[in-house]
Amino acid sequence: MATSPSLDNTEFDILIIGSGAAGLTLALRTADFASVVVLSKGDLNQGATFYAQGGIAAVLDAEDSIESHVADTLTAGVGLCHPEVVKHIVSNSVEAVAWLVEQGVPFTANSSPTPQSPATGNEPMELSSLHLTQEGGHSHRRIIHATDATGKAVFETLQQRAQAHSGINLLEGCTAVDLVTQARQGRSESVCVGAYVLNQKSGKVELIKSKFVVLATGGASKAYLYTTNPDGASGDGIAMAWRAGCRVANLEFNQFHPTCLFHPHAKSFLITEALRGEGATLELPDGSRFMPGFDRREELAPRDIVARAIDYEMKRLGCDCVYLNISHQPAAFIQEHFPTIYTRCLTFGIDITRERIPIVPAAHYTCGGIVVNISGETDIPNLYAIGETSFTGLHGAHRMASNSLLECFVVAFGAAKHIKNKIDDTEFAATIAPWDESRVTDSDDEILVSHNWDELRRCMWDFVGIVRTNKRLQRAERRIELLSQEIQDYYIKHRVTNDLLELRNLVLVSELIITSALQRKESRGLHFTLDYPELDAAARDTVLTPG
Ligand code: FAD
Ligand code: SIN
Repeated sequence: MATSPSLDNTEFDILIIGSGAAGLTLALRTADFASVVVLSKGDLNQGATFYAQGGIAAVLDAEDSIESHVADTLTAGVGLCHPEVVKHIVSNSVEAVAWLVEQGVPFTANSSPTPQSPATGNEPMELSSLHLTQEGGHSHRRIIHATDATGKAVFETLQQRAQAHSGINLLEGCTAVDLVTQARQGRSESVCVGAYVLNQKSGKVELIKSKFVVLATGGASKAYLYTTNPDGASGDGIAMAWRAGCRVANLEFNQFHPTCLFHPHAKSFLITEALRGEGATLELPDGSRFMPGFDRREELAPRDIVARAIDYEMKRLGCDCVYLNISHQPAAFIQEHFPTIYTRCLTFGIDITRERIPIVPAAHYTCGGIVVNISGETDIPNLYAIGETSFTGLHGAHRMASNSLLECFVVAFGAAKHIKNKIDDTEFAATIAPWDESRVTDSDDEILVSHNWDELRRCMWDFVGIVRTNKRLQRAERRIELLSQEIQDYYIKHRVTNDLLELRNLVLVSELIITSALQRKESRGLHFTLDYPELDAAARDTVLTPG
């Protein structure tokens, strides 16, 4: 692990919390004019980015257009996307892809489904030669990808680039605990001047001072018992920003991916939507298709519709899973286009070239987050949020497939530009109080952490899931309030550990999700409630402001 022996009182121009697509992009776009440190609480590859399969949406086909990508995104977002933000992000998709190709990301080319070799200093790939696949909600083939392991290819390329840059420090095993804000003379509002960070190697909470702090901490899908996300998706950035005084928005829109592998030993393994893009069908245990009865777009309807249809059929039939079937495609095609999924399923005894894949929906993406503009600026000066932790207005009530990575790149570009314009006029804080642990003792009851972790996630799954009601939400609210009190009580008395910090953040974000869900008295996109099944005429964001 690339942990630092001591970070205490170190100074960097930019402190980036998170080493996924958003954090690494920002580091690479700023390191030529600033000193940069990037933190990851686990290994650098522990974010969702590494696991992304399907790809990145971009307007590259001559038959496609920005207007069409914008229109599809607005339709999927069910009236709640911010059109100017959608237009900005989609319009910058080609620039984002060109930059990734320049970095050397080995995207799959048209001629062969095998990814290109990483950059060797030769000519970069022509954008027109990239293979485009299709996913739910998209009316064109516009998803570039590296077979079925796009996130791994993007992450590894950006990580290599960052490691090779002398201005970037990459540190693993460092968990940001809280942001530090300070009032500035002559100004009414506080500015962000650094963060307290748990150095897992030393067990100490240390202070990193910086001119700018960027939250790139990913989503909060770990709030749910079943999720496609890695363990660290505990909403830390959202919780830290809320505690520091930032608004959050639209946290009730939790996206459930329809097709997660159902197998007792397969933890969080996604079966990419691109399989459905290449003709895979969803089937009941008896082999009949059910999507045509739910939506004219059938298997390529947006995810909220597909996930709800699966949930409905599983409850109606009382079955543990439904099935995804791509076995009608030639075996060679499947093995070439989906090598990761083919190999992984085979380890569980499922040959997807001949058999159906058992699948269930699972929590996948946090559409809401910290309120930011297209440069990633939050409510607190010098604090930015980019990637899944943020709320730009792109996704509305439902994120369209493969728009998330695109948002990570484009908003990171905007944040880099914004920081560049401010850096010469920004100073480090003169003094910041060190972390105070004079009144805490070592954690003595770890069972409380693991028990509450399980209880919280089951409660969210059972009562705040794909289909909601007032009664279920209120039940969850009462239980989570109790958990929150217990966890806060434990937190103030004990030395922090990574697990305790994640639990503290997850319970706070769960409370914010439930509060947001209770405020929305309609069904829209990913928020579906039996008490208000209709869509309101007016579309409104749910914005929460810290008290
Ligand atoms: P992440 O990649 O999640 O990185 C978060 C980082 O923050 C990690 O380094 C983590 O260690 C760090 N961190 C978190 N908290 C702290 C803390 N307190 N202190 C220090 N570090 C911290 N989107 C697409 O557009 N296309 C796809 O094909 C696609 N497929 C997906 C498949 C799967 C299985 C999953 C889970 C998601 C997929 N998504 C896809 C969504 C997309 O991958 C994510 O939204 C995106 O990668 C988020 O990137 P990020 O940089 O914001 O955060
Ligand atoms: C997938 O590959 O199905 C996931 C794509 C996404 O979440 O955007």
